[in-house]
Amino acid sequence: MSNFLLEAKNLCKTYTLGRVKVPVLRGASFTLAQGEWVAILGSSGSGKSTLLHLLGLLDECDADSGGVWFDGNPVADLKFSARNAYRNQSVGFVFQFYHLLPELSVLENALLPNMVNAGMGWASKRAQAQQHATELLDAFGLSHRLTHKPAELSGGERQRVAIARALANQPRVLLADEPTGNLDTKTGGEILDLIAAKHRKGLSIAMVTHDPAVAARADRVVKLVDGRVAGERD
Ligand SMILES: Nc1ncnc2c1ncn2[C@@H]1O[C@H](COP(=O)(O)OP(=O)(O)OP(=O)(O)O)[C@@H](O)[C@H]1O
Ligand SMILES: [Mg+2]
Repeated sequence: MSNFLLEAKNLCKTYTLGRVKVPVLRGASFTLAQGEWVAILGSSGSGKSTLLHLLGLLDECDADSGGVWFDGNPVADLKFSARNAYRNQSVGFVFQFYHLLPELSVLENALLPNMVNAGMGWASKRAQAQQHATELLDAFGLSHRLTHKPAELSGGERQRVAIARALANQPRVLLADEPTGNLDTKTGGEILDLIAAKHRKGLSIAMVTHDPAVAARADRVVKLVDGRVAGERD
């Protein structure tokens, strides 16, 4: 039983390239308390995105290595539908390279998590979801881009859509991979202010960053070194 909202213990992740095995995580452990904001630093290639993907159940760790606990429960024990609910409702994920759907408009991209969750009930939930997504996009300075496609946006605008999408379902945890990596200092600071406002209302955050100034906004900073999380509490 874990006291943390999100916990990873002893994660190992090895990628196989042809015949070569590349161990990236070698027993990485990580904890996130309810309402906490933790920044994850580490050099390029140290495995930050890999760790975040494992926390979001977007990838699986090596067999015989550790696991991930959410709200005290081992996610490995969750059934297929509960794993999807975790991915779609409990967690909001900001990908390092956005992963917006090119055929959908800004508003449609931001509505995607709501649509996935609502399933057959979408018609009755659409109006409210649309209003919430429009407000979020407005707060992110994108109200004049609602009908644009991702290809028509700047890198920073795409990143803001990706963050708005991650927050659309009002998740308990935000897993954000370099969410201000493509923004200038001023715009990045404004986005962090918006994320910090959600944090003050209870959002727990694990945020990967290269930038010590961004990390300084977090409650706690850990660093990925040699496949392990240095600075993690015992
Ligand atoms: N799907 C994959 N197949 C093979 N190797 C991979 C794969 N994904 C990542 N790697 C390798 O694993 C290592 C860690 O990658 P990861 O993307 O987690 O690093 P990172 O810390 O996020 O780096 P960056 O700061 O550049 O984003 C790298 O050496 C990378 O080449
Ligand atoms: Mg990365």
